[in-house]
Amino acid sequence: MKSNVRQALLDAFKNANGKFISGEKLAQNIGCSRTAIWKHIEDLKKDGFHVEAVRKKGYRLLEQSNKLSENEIYLGLETEEIGRSVYFFESVTSTQKVAKEYAMNGAKHGTLIVADEQTEGRGRMVRKWYSPKGTGIWASFILRPDIQIQHAPQLTLLSAVAVVQAIKKVTHITPEIKWPNDILISGRKVCGILTELQAEEDRIQSVILGIGINVNQDKNDFSAEIIKKATSLKIELGKTVNRSSLIQSLCYYIEQLLHLYISEGFTPIKSLWETYAVSIGKRISARTVKGTFDGVALGINNEGVLLLKQDNGDIVEIISADIDF
Ligand code: BTN
Repeated sequence: MKSNVRQALLDAFKNANGKFISGEKLAQNIGCSRTAIWKHIEDLKKDGFHVEAVRKKGYRLLEQSNKLSENEIYLGLETEEIGRSVYFFESVTSTQKVAKEYAMNGAKHGTLIVADEQTEGRGRMVRKWYSPKGTGIWASFILRPDIQIQHAPQLTLLSAVAVVQAIKKVTHITPEIKWPNDILISGRKVCGILTELQAEEDRIQSVILGIGINVNQDKNDFSAEIIKKATSLKIELGKTVNRSSLIQSLCYYIEQLLHLYISEGFTPIKSLWETYAVSIGKRISARTVKGTFDGVALGINNEGVLLLKQDNGDIVEIISADIDF
């Protein structure tokens, strides 16, 4: 978590749009000494920011660095709550685990935990989530929505829409959603979402929303087995994607969609989800713990449950499954 001076400094640079600001003006506006300004600018440089200092003109921020850091994420964040408290780690076991600890210690709604690497990244259904250093977005959001516990799965669907919109904004590629929450490009998985709930009796304490996006991996970063099913934004786009911009965009869409959800309910979120969903109207095979069900995916209900019409006309509700089509 950055200091207030650092935060104010980044805001000032952002507002200056690449123009010079004098050390004196920065010190005055932020309410600290010029020495403090200088010290914080040195710290920014260590974090990979290119700050130019010119006598009689002052300082200006030249360009964004490619290093992932709290400052880098904070600069350019267009939200009020989501991502405003951000904690970055070079390496963690799992951002889900860290986020849970922070949530238990009272971290506020919108707190974001990001890591450059996870050594024990977790996926759905107790699977491992491969999270190598420096290539992906491994992030967990702490959300404290005022909703009923049975509506929590709706947040997973909301997040899938947010991921699609964020990727679309940054890369101009529109990914597809595979129920419940896999994000695909060209039929291959580029992102997975894991939602975990912390609740007491019937009250939600927090929702830990884990998002893993394959961003800058090359084909040979994936094993032969994985590359059949997985892809990265770089592979699809043919160029490197700035991870901080994508995180900022993700924060923006999560916040926007949460506002929409709180004000208008699940219906608009459901429509958006269905617009991006790949399996709706198609023949699918759902592998559940109760066995495999084949049929046509009709859509989702208000609880985010997948409705599958079998050949005999029966409609089965699929709560949790792996889908093949
Ligand atoms: C899936 O199985 O598709 C869900 C994968 C979720 C991975 C993310 S990466 C950030 C967060 N930390 C984890 O350990 N898992 C989630």
